[in-house]
Amino acid sequence: MADDAILQVKGLVTSFQTEAGTIRAVEDVSFDVHKGQTLGIVGESGCGKSVTSLSIMRLLPKPFGHIESGEIILDKQDLLKLPAKKMHHIRGNRISMIFQEPMTALNPVHRIGKQIGESFMLHQPDMNEQAIYEASVEMLHLVGIPAPEQRIQEYPHQLSGGMRQRVMIAIALACKPDILIADEPTTALDVTIQAQILELMKSLQKTSKMAIIFITHDLGVIAEVCDDVVVMYAGKIAEKASVHDLFQSPRHPYTKGLLSAIPKLDNPPKQKLQTIEGSVPDLMSLPTGCRFQNRCFYMEERCQSQPPPLEQIDTDHFVNCHRWKEI
Ligand SMILES: Nc1ncnc2c1ncn2[C@@H]1O[C@H](COP(=O)(O)OP(=O)(O)OP(=O)(O)O)[C@@H](O)[C@H]1O
Ligand SMILES: [Mg+2]
Repeated sequence: MADDAILQVKGLVTSFQTEAGTIRAVEDVSFDVHKGQTLGIVGESGCGKSVTSLSIMRLLPKPFGHIESGEIILDKQDLLKLPAKKMHHIRGNRISMIFQEPMTALNPVHRIGKQIGESFMLHQPDMNEQAIYEASVEMLHLVGIPAPEQRIQEYPHQLSGGMRQRVMIAIALACKPDILIADEPTTALDVTIQAQILELMKSLQKTSKMAIIFITHDLGVIAEVCDDVVVMYAGKIAEKASVHDLFQSPRHPYTKGLLSAIPKLDNPPKQKLQTIEGSVPDLMSLPTGCRFQNRCFYMEERCQSQPPPLEQIDTDHFVNCHRWKEI
């Protein structure tokens, strides 16, 4: 259903220059994000989730991060071709991001109130000071910050990590973006606050039709909040499907492994959770063939000699495995 996609990422390849040479952190990643829906990106640490989102925002660390190829289409225009000034306008206005590291994204020298207020002003320049103040307090209240009238006067260093993350969420939501990229937005928070934040994002999505890219390494959270899922492994897409299809009929051995690592209520008590043995290959020395081969139960000769294609196996279901039919 590419026609109602609000954002399309096509063939994204992102690399970094390092002392040891060039590494490709993201290789040929494509997906569509639909209006009012949530796309989840899931995968182990280092698989390229944050680099994908920083590429969309054009916020890769300079000068070492570089988009080698691909397109990022918003409103029929390729964001990668926009002049920096236009891209600046898109960030925080059309697309906003909740960063994994809240301290790097908050300005340490400005009070919390000023930083949220700026976000409101960007989107609604005709709001007066009193209205901005009230809306900012309301936003802090919504993300679960106690005594918002007091907190709004404080500086980022006066808040705990979890509070800062909630401020970040408030700032990202204040400008009412069309697309919100949430990079592990709740990992630093305790579970009750996590649930509140997820609820808040869902309810704002209902009223505003905002699309969300939700990044996490937790498939349990994906099941709760997402419509579609991209499973990444070592910089590539391993599997892409609707949440329903992914959970009902996972076809990539890695997805299967991730799913069996989720605790279930009907598991016998004290049973050990399955984990995926082995570790992700080093991006500097990737194997020939499939990137998952060293951990794969189904590995055979061709998996070592040829990389599998990302094959379409159903309407919206894609899998990057030679042996998907047998899995
Ligand atoms: N600034 C950088 N310089 C060099 N390499 C980088 C840089 N940032 C990321 N990388 C490389 O890109 C790969 C993907 O990183 P990324 O931050 O996207 O992982 P992630 O999936 O977000 O992991 P996590 O779950 O830990 O946040 C890393 O393995 C690393 O090798
Ligand atoms: Mg990350």
